[in-house]
Amino acid sequence: MSYKQQAAEKIAAAINQLGVADFPAEKVQAMLETPPNPQMGDIAFPCFQLAKALRKAPPAIAGELAPLLSGAPLREAAAVGPYVNLFLDQQQVAAEVITKVTKEKEAYGSRNLGQGRKVPIDLSSPNIAKPFSMGHLRSTVIGNAIANIMEKHGYQPVRINHIGDWGTQFGKLIVAYLKWGSEEKVKAEPIKELLRLYVQFHEEAEKDPALEDQGREWFKKLEDGDPQAQRLWQWFRDESLKEFTKIYELMGVSFDFVQGEAFYNDKMDRIVQLLEEKDLLTESEGAMVVQLDEFDLPPCLIKKSDGATLYATRDLAAALYRHEAFDFAKALYVVGNEQRLHFQQLFRVLQKMGFAWATEMYHIPFGMMLKDGKKMSTRKGKVVLLEEVFAQAIADVKKVIEEKNPQLVNKDEVARQVGVGAVIFHDLKNFRLNDVNFSWEEMLTFEGETGPYVQYTHARACSLLRKGNYQPAEAPFPAEAFDSKEAWAIITTLNNFPDVVDKAREQFDPSQIGKYVIDLAQQFNKFYANVRILADEPELKAARLQLVHAVVIVLKEGLRLLGLQAPEEM
Ligand code: ARG
Repeated sequence: MSYKQQAAEKIAAAINQLGVADFPAEKVQAMLETPPNPQMGDIAFPCFQLAKALRKAPPAIAGELAPLLSGAPLREAAAVGPYVNLFLDQQQVAAEVITKVTKEKEAYGSRNLGQGRKVPIDLSSPNIAKPFSMGHLRSTVIGNAIANIMEKHGYQPVRINHIGDWGTQFGKLIVAYLKWGSEEKVKAEPIKELLRLYVQFHEEAEKDPALEDQGREWFKKLEDGDPQAQRLWQWFRDESLKEFTKIYELMGVSFDFVQGEAFYNDKMDRIVQLLEEKDLLTESEGAMVVQLDEFDLPPCLIKKSDGATLYATRDLAAALYRHEAFDFAKALYVVGNEQRLHFQQLFRVLQKMGFAWATEMYHIPFGMMLKDGKKMSTRKGKVVLLEEVFAQAIADVKKVIEEKNPQLVNKDEVARQVGVGAVIFHDLKNFRLNDVNFSWEEMLTFEGETGPYVQYTHARACSLLRKGNYQPAEAPFPAEAFDSKEAWAIITTLNNFPDVVDKAREQFDPSQIGKYVIDLAQQFNKFYANVRILADEPELKAARLQLVHAVVIVLKEGLRLLGLQAPEEM
């Protein structure tokens, strides 16, 4: 039990003694505050909400409650106006927190809420024959972190890459390839070459509209299973995936399933049939749609006038498929905010189809990646290729390592872990709906609120453990070991980790953990600067190293949840 829970239980018992029966500890705990300054206490309980039940003024209630509160982990309770301020027995709390973290190690903060139930997470999902965009990078990074967080709470995440591998653009691409393409060029630089062909198609089509018809014809052939069309499509797809895989490997992200849009081709008739049976399809300008007027939403397009199915139809098929394949607790879609309407429509159509499980589907939107205030485009003009972003980050980190720690073994691997970590952390430290301003300085400095800073702090703490010849030691610890405000700040922060992971899970918000590890790293560095950790007195040193060790455990676990590695030396 954390010290906050313990304090809450004591307060709840005292409230009960005063004659209020329905005021449970959980309610108390949610109301606990931190006093404005540490001289006033470690925890404050406001009495306003009891005024009605007790028919007394809050200060009077505080005065009655305070004398009833004593015993571990409390040292003292004092009524100050409408508040009861509690002083903790910091010695004891420190020993408890350190012991708990040390015992549980990376399982600290884990829970079994999910009981192994599956949570399919739709993430990354780039489009074949196009570069991997910044938006897809964000989806990959955010989705992967959310998967880790769900897993920590006992769910079984199922990472699904719903790649864009179907649609009329493949007809156009086939036309362009047959007219102007070459096998060698596609093999050498698949994405660049396929993109070039796609752009060329649109340029030529402006002059010669007949090309558009040819594109449609080839897509029809593809849908009808024409062998040549199939072979080319499969080849474009394989080559593109090879390129994407390089990025995933670099990032250390893997998928349980790569099920692109084409995977649902044979599952769509059933959707249309179900919609017909339920009498939900109406005709609109030749197309088949589901009306969503009652939700104030535009109609959802299911089938075009030429019979072709659409993005939404495929997502309906995917939702049904996932429900049947995984019997999910929740289904998540980590997709940019610009697709908000699409997911609103999708979920409402499923609801109209009578699927109660549609209430457990969540669109997890995120903002854009900006550079100099403008959307970062991977398409036209100045193309920022993701491989290049990573390569640059890794090279920059390598330079710093060469300067600061030329002796380091496996420099290249550490540079990869820190360079890639910098890019990931830069994305995850702010709430996902905020736009991210792409900035090399902000991403890579070892001193700001960055991935390298947190990783560096972790490595520094590890090196301290090596230097001090850390050995596990058990409480009781000497009284002076943690009597600094710096040590106490670390203790309370370590104690908060499980709550922070809770919040991150509830809100699908990895930035809670991003901000947390920055805090913890900053507190550790203050402790390091102001307290002699490697004290002469052996017991004092041993005790302080226990705290350092607990910091190492929690920093590493926090970084892992975000998808970053934590090198022990850098
Ligand atoms: N490929 C799509 C795009 O780049 C994203 C797919 C998201 N997932 C989904 N199930 N719709 O816009």
